[in-house]
Amino acid sequence: MEYFYELFLDLPRGGPGDNKSTRKAFSYLKNLPFEPLILDIGCGHGVQTIELARICKGKIIALDNYQPFLDILMQNAIMEGFEDRITLKNQSMLEMDFKNDTFDIIWSEGALFVMGFQNGLKKCFQLLKNKGFFVVSEAVLFLPNIPLPLKEFWDEQYPDIKDIESNISIIKNEGFDILSHFTLPKACWIDFYSQMDEKIKELKKKYHDKKIALKIFESFEKESKMYDNYSDYFGYEFFIMQKK
Ligand SMILES: C[S@@+](CC[C@H](N)C(=O)[O-])C[C@H]1O[C@@H](n2cnc3c(N)ncnc32)[C@H](O)[C@@H]1O
Repeated sequence: MEYFYELFLDLPRGGPGDNKSTRKAFSYLKNLPFEPLILDIGCGHGVQTIELARICKGKIIALDNYQPFLDILMQNAIMEGFEDRITLKNQSMLEMDFKNDTFDIIWSEGALFVMGFQNGLKKCFQLLKNKGFFVVSEAVLFLPNIPLPLKEFWDEQYPDIKDIESNISIIKNEGFDILSHFTLPKACWIDFYSQMDEKIKELKKKYHDKKIALKIFESFEKESKMYDNYSDYFGYEFFIMQKK
């Protein structure tokens, strides 16, 4: 894991995304309290956490199970004067111990897959207040009949990946209204992987004699190549939901 984290610590964020999309997703949330209580699950470096603090006056609990990401988040929060509105929580999302009916908004960019999409919906439904909002970006398939190398890749990485309509039907079955959904722009993926590819080049030199490290970096190079080759087939979809 240490090589994995060394790669990600130096990247600006933990997955594809941008502030414009965070802002766009937030714009669908209506009739919010003046200071909503927000939970950001799998916040990582917290780029979206800080953007949420810029967008509204809410208090945000930023949850991740890797302390160095939370430390980066707090350094940035202090620089922007948000330290009183952002609370760090080092805890696994699989072991969240908040009381039911607590949050006005739950946010999770590119991280809910750790719980599994449906499990994540069930858990967050309980944690949200009545009419609370849930915003998630989730890996989805855009086209059927995906090429074999891509199928093998997803079978290994996230066999639960689905198309947009299947996710929407799960969302509705779990008691949410779907307010909107949109696809994260391709530019976010291209930026993310170009920064990752640069960092991998550097790390491959640094750890040229460490087999385990090289294997890890090669697996991320493979992921980046998958996007180069098959970006029409998959991406992230933002789903904006409200508890009924
Ligand atoms: C793909 S990154 C997304 C980070 C951030 N939301 C972003 O968009 O930049 C996934 C995040 O989930 C966190 N994570 C992985 N497993 C977790 C767990 N069991 N509990 C809490 N966080 C976890 C990782 O540490 C990482 O920060």
